[in-house]
Amino acid sequence: MQSQMLTFPSNDPATPVLDQLDRPLHDLRISVTDRCNFRCTYCMPKEVFGKDYQFLPRSAVLSFEEIERLARLFNAHGVQKFRLTGGEPLMRRGLETLIEMLTALPNVDIALTTNGSFPLERVQTLKQAGLKRITVSLDSLDNEIFMGMNDVTFPVARVLAWIEACSEAGFAPVKINMVVKRGVNEQSILPMARYFREKGHILRFIEYMDVGASNGWRMDDVVTAREIYELINQTMPIEPADPNYFGEVAERWRYTDGGGEIGIIASVTQAFCRTCTRARLSAEGKLFTCLFAIQGFDLRTMLREGATDEEIYTAIGKVWHRRADRYSEIRTGKTAQRPKIEMSYIGG
Ligand code: GTP
Ligand code: 5AD
Ligand code: SF4
Ligand code: SF4
Repeated sequence: MQSQMLTFPSNDPATPVLDQLDRPLHDLRISVTDRCNFRCTYCMPKEVFGKDYQFLPRSAVLSFEEIERLARLFNAHGVQKFRLTGGEPLMRRGLETLIEMLTALPNVDIALTTNGSFPLERVQTLKQAGLKRITVSLDSLDNEIFMGMNDVTFPVARVLAWIEACSEAGFAPVKINMVVKRGVNEQSILPMARYFREKGHILRFIEYMDVGASNGWRMDDVVTAREIYELINQTMPIEPADPNYFGEVAERWRYTDGGGEIGIIASVTQAFCRTCTRARLSAEGKLFTCLFAIQGFDLRTMLREGATDEEIYTAIGKVWHRRADRYSEIRTGKTAQRPKIEMSYIGG
C-alpha cells in the first residue's frame, strides 16, 4: 500500500518545478479516452475520424489506478488543478470511480470538460463522486448550425437540458465553451451571449485553433477576440475584469449593468504561452508539455515496467524543467501545416 501523501522535495505548491521560461507546473489535463460520440468539424472531422480510424486499443489506455498514481505524483510536484478531458471523457465507463479516487488527493480542484450529450442521471453521479466543476461545449443555439458542427445531428435542446441539470445540481457557475468559426457560427455569438447571460452561466468564446492536422485550419476562419468583443460590446456593453488566478486562459469581461460575465479565449491572436502552466497526459500515458507538441514522454512504460514513485516523480520534473514550448507565440501559416497531434488524443 502506498502512502497518500508523498514528501518529495517540491511537494509544496509554493515551490513548483520551473521550465526554461520560468513557468511553474500548476495544472494537469488528463485525457481519459481518445474517443468521442461527436464529430465536430473543427476537432474530429468525419473524413479523418470515420469508420476506419484507429483509436487506441483498450490495453493501451491507462487504467484508473495508473492515472491515480500519476496524478498523485503530479500532486507531489504541487499540481492541485486537474481537468478530465478527452475525446469525450464521459465515454470512459465508470469515470465517477476515477473522480472519487482523485478527489481523495490533498487540496485538489477537479474539473471536467464535456459535450453534455449523456443521460441527465450522469450529472447526479458526477456530483456524488465529488466533482466540483463542469465546462460544457456548445457552439450554437441554432439546431441546424449546431448539428452541422457536431456532425452527428445531436440537438441543442439536450445539451441545454444538461447544462440546466448541472446548474441545479450545484455546479455553479457552469462554464460553456463555444468555438467560433467564421462563416459557420459567428451569427450565434449574440444569441448565445444573451441566453447564457440570462441564465447566469459563464459563456467563453474560443478562437478557432490549428490543433491537430485534420481540421484544415486557415487564419481567415478565425473570428478574432477583438471582433467578438466589439460585437458584444455594441449591444451589451462589457468591461474587463481581473483574472481569477495567474495564467487564466480566458480573458474575463463583465457586463457593465451587472448582468454577469463572459470569457474570450484568444489563443490565436493574443497568445498566452508566457503564463502557460499546463501539462497534458494522453489516454495512453504520454506526457505533453504543449497542446501543439509533436512528441510526448512515455510515462506508461515506466508505470508498467515497475518504476518506483521516486523515479516517475523525477522523470516528470525533468520533462517539465526541459520545457521551452510557446507554439501560439510563434504560429504562422506555415507552422499550422506541421504534423501535429490531434486535440482529441492529447486532451483539450
Ligand atoms: P478554468 O479552470 O475553468 O479556468 O478552465 P480553463 O480556462 O482552462 O478552460 P478550459 O479547460 O475549458 O479551456 C478552454 C479552452 O481553451 C480549451 O478547450 C482550449 O480550446 C483552450 N485552451 C486551454 N488550454 C490551452 C492551452 O494551454 N493552449 C491553448 N492554445 N489553448 C488552450
Ligand atoms: N479550436 C479551438 N477549440 C477547440 N476545441 C476543440 N477543437 C478546437 C479547435 N480547433 C475545444 C472545444 C471543447 C474543448 C474540448 O476543446 O471547444 O470545448
Ligand atoms: Fe468530441 Fe469535444 Fe472534439 Fe467535439 S470538440 S469532437 S465533442 S472531443
Ligand atoms: Fe501553452 Fe502550448 Fe498553448 Fe502556448 S500553445 S499556451 S505553450 S499549450
